[in-house]
Amino acid sequence: GKKVLITAGPTVASIDPVRFITNKSTGKMGYAIAKEARNRGANVTLISGPTSLDIPRNINFVRISSNEEMKNAVLKEFSDSDIVIKSAAVADYKPRTYSEQKIKKGDGDLELAFTRDNDILLEIGKKKQNQILVGFAAESQNLKENAKSKLNKKNLDYIVANDITASDTGFASEDNKVIILSKDGLEINLDKMSKEKIASNLFDIIAQKR
Ligand code: CTP
Repeated sequence: GKKVLITAGPTVASIDPVRFITNKSTGKMGYAIAKEARNRGANVTLISGPTSLDIPRNINFVRISSNEEMKNAVLKEFSDSDIVIKSAAVADYKPRTYSEQKIKKGDGDLELAFTRDNDILLEIGKKKQNQILVGFAAESQNLKENAKSKLNKKNLDYIVANDITASDTGFASEDNKVIILSKDGLEINLDKMSKEKIASNLFDIIAQKR
């Protein structure tokens, strides 16, 4: 009966009518979380960037592309959510200008300038009231230290930290190896396991606390 809001997948920033930048997120972790929440009887909204995954049944599904679209969709749902889990890989920068025309090639190099985009989780962390807020931290170095600093900076209750340099886990893999940290100092090192099992462990941890 709880209302659970989940974000998943990458966001996309357009450069011109044919080009864009994005990242390697496949959405698998977020979709696994959405299905687990649904199976446990939650009322689930999944806000997703472009992925090749099937849309899970019996949830509210919102398809977005850009950082701005994800932000607007999250803000619409946030105030009456009980649990918010942000597994999306949100682009931090977008091209400073969008070219209405296709950028033509020249003889030399091309330089693009980027401008900062919204940190959605930071913004909703500031608005947090009774929601349980869960973030993810994708790190290639100083995993625990960087994850702890995101937990504090973004006013989270939990953060799921994963080392993206391991070749058999993380982006696009079936498995992941994560550490779950809480604002109360809890630290749970999960073994390498499927994303479905991680989702189940995550809800066990959240449910024990409440
Ligand atoms: N996040 C977000 N908006 C952004 C960037 C990240 O909402 N513009 C959220 C992600 O969904 C994730 C958490 O913040 O839950 C951490 O994302 P991550 O990419 O690991 O870190 P960043 O805050 O972007 O920091 P950095 O890129 O410097 O590691």
